[in-house]
Amino acid sequence: MKYRGALLLVLSASILLVPSVVLAWPWSTDMMNQPSLKPQETHNGKIFSFPARSVPTIGVQTKVADREEARDLQNPIAVSAASLKIGKRMFVIYCSACHGLSGKADSPISPKIGAIDLTTEYVQKDLTEGWIFGTITFGSAIMPAYGKPGEGGGSNDLSVEERWHVVNYLRNELAKQSAPAVASK
Ligand code: HEC
Repeated sequence: MKYRGALLLVLSASILLVPSVVLAWPWSTDMMNQPSLKPQETHNGKIFSFPARSVPTIGVQTKVADREEARDLQNPIAVSAASLKIGKRMFVIYCSACHGLSGKADSPISPKIGAIDLTTEYVQKDLTEGWIFGTITFGSAIMPAYGKPGEGGGSNDLSVEERWHVVNYLRNELAKQSAPAVASK
């Protein structure tokens, strides 16, 4: 009976402590995915309209609901050394783990998850740049999203501009740099 007070104290102290421990799990991504909505992010399945008279920072439509809608988007960012440089940096950080540094699906985990070779004609010619932008934004069957947090481990790590820089790199430099070295004529 005399331990009851102490027991209650320990019990209430642990109840108070538990939530703070739970919020600090090492794999918690709360700091990354914040409550504030980013461009193209949905809330209850809806994309909020931007305040009246607001313009996209790159001056073109970026608001699409899914990959299908992104298919015909025009790439607003011209290919330049600066764009390719950012695109490459983002590719190395976000894409190479699965698709390989060369893009040829030659990373150790590529075969395990079925990541595809990004230097083939299918990706280099057949897919539209909008579709690739949409794939990066919304993810694919196995591939996670980089413009939409939530489902399937998706995040909003890459801004709209950064995604287009990756598209530029993927379509203009990736295949060239991974081509086998041949003597130039
Ligand atoms: C976790 C592994 C993983 C990462 C990281 C990843 N991908 Fe993928 N990606 C895949 C897999 C697996 C496929 C093929 C199956 C599928 O469509 O999900 C794929 C398919 C694709 C496709 C083809 C889509 C289509 O319609 O056929 C493109 C383009 C692509 N990835 C580009 C990228 C780019 C660019 C990045 C970096 C921003 C990236 N991927 C990061 C795993 C990944």
